[in-house]
Amino acid sequence: MRSLLLSSIAVLQALVVGLPQPQPLSIPLMKKTTFKIADGYVDPASIKAHISSTEAKLLRGAAAFERNAGIALFSPSPTKRARMLGSNPLINNSNNSWYGIIKVGTPPQAFSVEVDTGSSDLFLPGPSCGASCSGHKIYNPHSSSSSEALGKAFKLKYGDNSTVTGNQYKDTVSLAGFKATAQTFGVASNTTGSFPKDKPDGLMGMGLRSNSVFNADSVFETLVAQKAVPEPVFAFKLASSGSELRVGGMNSALYEGEFTYTPVTKKGFWQITGDAIEINGKGVVNGFSAVVDTGTSAILGNFTYVSQLYAAINATEVDKGLYALPCNAMPNVTITLGGKSFPLSAETLNMGPTDSSGKMCFGGIVGYDLGDITSGQLQWILGDVFMRNVYTAFDVGQCRIGFAELA
Ligand SMILES: *[C@@H]1O[C@H](CO)[C@@H](O)[C@H](O)[C@H]1NC(C)=O
Ligand SMILES: *[C@@H]1O[C@H](CO)[C@@H](O)[C@H](O)[C@H]1NC(C)=O
Ligand SMILES: *[C@@H]1O[C@H](CO)[C@@H](O)[C@H](O)[C@H]1NC(C)=O
Ligand SMILES: *[C@@H]1O[C@H](CO)[C@@H](O)[C@H](O)[C@H]1NC(C)=O
Ligand SMILES: *[C@@H]1O[C@H](CO)[C@@H](O)[C@H](O)[C@H]1NC(C)=O
Ligand SMILES: *[C@@H]1O[C@H](CO)[C@@H](O)[C@H](O)[C@H]1NC(C)=O
Ligand SMILES: *[C@@H]1O[C@H](CO)[C@@H](O)[C@H](O)[C@H]1NC(C)=O
Repeated sequence: MRSLLLSSIAVLQALVVGLPQPQPLSIPLMKKTTFKIADGYVDPASIKAHISSTEAKLLRGAAAFERNAGIALFSPSPTKRARMLGSNPLINNSNNSWYGIIKVGTPPQAFSVEVDTGSSDLFLPGPSCGASCSGHKIYNPHSSSSSEALGKAFKLKYGDNSTVTGNQYKDTVSLAGFKATAQTFGVASNTTGSFPKDKPDGLMGMGLRSNSVFNADSVFETLVAQKAVPEPVFAFKLASSGSELRVGGMNSALYEGEFTYTPVTKKGFWQITGDAIEINGKGVVNGFSAVVDTGTSAILGNFTYVSQLYAAINATEVDKGLYALPCNAMPNVTITLGGKSFPLSAETLNMGPTDSSGKMCFGGIVGYDLGDITSGQLQWILGDVFMRNVYTAFDVGQCRIGFAELA
């Protein structure tokens, strides 16, 4: 019996070894930075514009969730949401975004796309988009033998009443070489407003289907459903250099130690519960809800929390929600998730000088009225200022987010 069992295990192992197991692969990410203006200091208006675009994105995601699920993501209320529409559209957001290359169609064509865990849909500029998409690579359905028109229009309204309209298509999308066949995405035929020239061509949401405007699987969810990836996980290293999106697993060369996991609290955004936020050793925030978002630059927290945090070190509020800190003496901030504390480096916390003297710098934790959009149910958005300090794994299979120290 024993030897029989052993030999069948050996056969099984041989079979497993013999299978062409796909390996996780990475795409490099680039960042188009940031808030600094020509003289090297930061215009607070550019930070505010970015926050407005984050707000507009949250609103769209929450509205899509409600349409898809028939229940509100954040209860209540639509009237409050309408009032909160910001003043800048998503497309301006891409100046502060991480982007990488995907390939679409047959034969495959390369497009640069913003990689955004805070939304769930893929959009590309289309052939009838004209001047409003100038400077961008155009996806032409007629040039792809695998393209399929869905006969469904889409219209997205942004914070400043600008719009993107177009039609939905399906086509093959490959991400790090893994192919998602019949992936639904939007092809813009008209955008109002300008589409800055040196930015990514489109946007790829890596959120969950529940928040999809098209009520369709995201590219990564399609890869998982089609069993195209080794593991239902993608992971990020976001840094000044060597940034990458790992597809189908984690890149063990880029992190150290164990992952700390936090469950997604509701299948809408990538939303989790955090433990604590400390500044210079003083615990200010305990127990909080947060969305982990590659598409937001700062750490956004509601005004109450952010003012408490900065009050602990007597920092000066220079504009609503924006605080000035001495550039050469950034405070020690740690964020504790899943029982583990992650310190924010001075470099990531510093969003740049407030003026040309270069003495004071904007803190990367910014106050914002999230309570008004989400009825207090979402308190923080952990954007780049946090994510650049950790290796982050988004586990679609187990609906959780893991954090590890960067190697
Ligand atoms: C985007 O960045 C470019 C520089 O790369 C700058 O000229 C442009 O004004 C920025 N656009 C916005 C909306 O901030
Ligand atoms: C957007 O349109 C609505 C309704 O037409 C209007 O009330 C609102 O003021 C507009 N917002 C902006 C920023 O133009
Ligand atoms: C694009 O949309 C805007 C706003 O709906 C509209 O005014 C404009 O005529 C459209 N342009 C084209 C080329 O369809
Ligand atoms: C985007 O940003 C630019 C530069 O700040 C601004 O002029 C424009 O109105 C914004 N909106 C759109 C839709 O481009
Ligand atoms: C920040 O942490 C470092 C290293 O632990 C320590 O040397 C420094 O005194 C701390 N700064 C403040 C303001 O607490
Ligand atoms: C903040 O200011 C108050 C009142 O001036 C002072 O008592 C306190 O020590 C200051 N705290 C820090 C961390 O500087
Ligand atoms: C911030 O969140 C807390 C906890 O939900 C809430 O009590 C507070 O009212 C919020 N503050 C604002 C300004 O939304």
